[in-house]
Amino acid sequence: MTNTRKSIHGQWSSRWAFILAATGSAVGLGNIWKFPYIAGENGGGAFVLVYLLCIASIGIPIMMAEILLGRRGRQSPVNTMRTLASESGRSPHWQWLGWGGVFSGFLILSYYSVVAGWALAYVFRVGSGEFTGVTAARAGALFTELVSDPERLLAWHTIFMGMTMFVVARGVRSGLEQAVRVLMPALFVILLLLVGYALNSGKFAEGAAFLFNPDFSKLTADSILVAMGHAFFTLSLGMGAIMVYGSYLNQHVSIGRTSLFIAALDTLVALLAGLAIFPIVMSHGLEPGAGPGLIFQSLPLAFGHMPGGQFFGALFFVLLVFAAWTSAISLLEPAVTWLVESRGMSRLKATMGCGVAIWALGIGTVLSFNLWSSPLFAGKTFFDLLDYLTANILLPLGGLLISLFAGWLLTREASLDELGLGDGPAYRIWRVLASFVAPLAVAIVFLNAIGLV
Ligand code: PFF
Repeated sequence: MTNTRKSIHGQWSSRWAFILAATGSAVGLGNIWKFPYIAGENGGGAFVLVYLLCIASIGIPIMMAEILLGRRGRQSPVNTMRTLASESGRSPHWQWLGWGGVFSGFLILSYYSVVAGWALAYVFRVGSGEFTGVTAARAGALFTELVSDPERLLAWHTIFMGMTMFVVARGVRSGLEQAVRVLMPALFVILLLLVGYALNSGKFAEGAAFLFNPDFSKLTADSILVAMGHAFFTLSLGMGAIMVYGSYLNQHVSIGRTSLFIAALDTLVALLAGLAIFPIVMSHGLEPGAGPGLIFQSLPLAFGHMPGGQFFGALFFVLLVFAAWTSAISLLEPAVTWLVESRGMSRLKATMGCGVAIWALGIGTVLSFNLWSSPLFAGKTFFDLLDYLTANILLPLGGLLISLFAGWLLTREASLDELGLGDGPAYRIWRVLASFVAPLAVAIVFLNAIGLV
């Protein structure tokens, strides 16, 4: 039966609008800030290989599943799951999957906004010429100085949350779409420029080898979990962000092709970021495993030594802020749509309520880089714990349940109709990946990480 439901929140104006928005959600701090530093911490090549395998075998089928459920249900993830479960004769408890997503979105956005605040701060720092001719030690010291000041971090975090709430309050077309149109292509161009700079840094081959030569002795159970978790994080999967974007997607758009395209772009951006950063890291004798400060310590060095670096550097951080912004709005959207649908709130009120709660939670992350920097639990700070819990546990778990629901519980007619691939090999491959491969892979990586397999 063809789906005739309509979303009360509106619809994308075209297929491209969806691609841009979903790519905007996927491409963010995860690609440019997080991917390089976790690749650095986990030894490079072998980690990158596992990450790429996870994108292809788990990420893409789950992205298709998430968009298909979203478009079928055409509501907030909570209500979409409830409706689809009841239509397929399943338990209404499936709505908890939507709730889990709202919860993960709150946790992620609370620290995401703090890191986006660093990028905001760097727009002004790099733009003012503070890094011109800087040494590696000085660049490191400048980063430490920023994160040790809770007041400054709080101020930037507050500004970024305000920006996010502003766009979400304006709704699908006027807010979300406009923001991504120009910014994504611009980010891509400046990344290419940085890779061009890295090519001439004298250590390009070493940087590329670090990223692509697998050394399997460096791979631990935990680093496999981190690589898989990052595949979910970077594609924005497992928490309803892509599901809610799918709910605004026109009925005739091909979910399979669109998902492949988004995953490819996202991966390309991450690899370009790695290719820009590691040669700089190598040529300045920096530590690849430096952690969350890696790009803030390495890229300003490049900008500080290139002609026009002050301008390009400021522009780069502006674009990084935009990339983070278009991801942040998708982290807030699932909760806001639920409040509008089920509590009859205005979009503005719903956004304010959620935004303020997330802002308050973000204070924990602000403090974890200074006043609370001693580990709270298992050697991890508040920020580390939020990051670990969301990326490595909640998102893969959400993705596992989404793929099980789409592969096993949703009626075959519904997934056939929604994917529009016909009942041929493409559909069957997706079904095998979503029903068996992706859930099993997630389960094995989980069991492996806790030492059971
Ligand atoms: N995909 C975003 C990034 O790579 O920065 C982060 C993200 C956005 C994760 C939305 C999860 C999400 F639902």
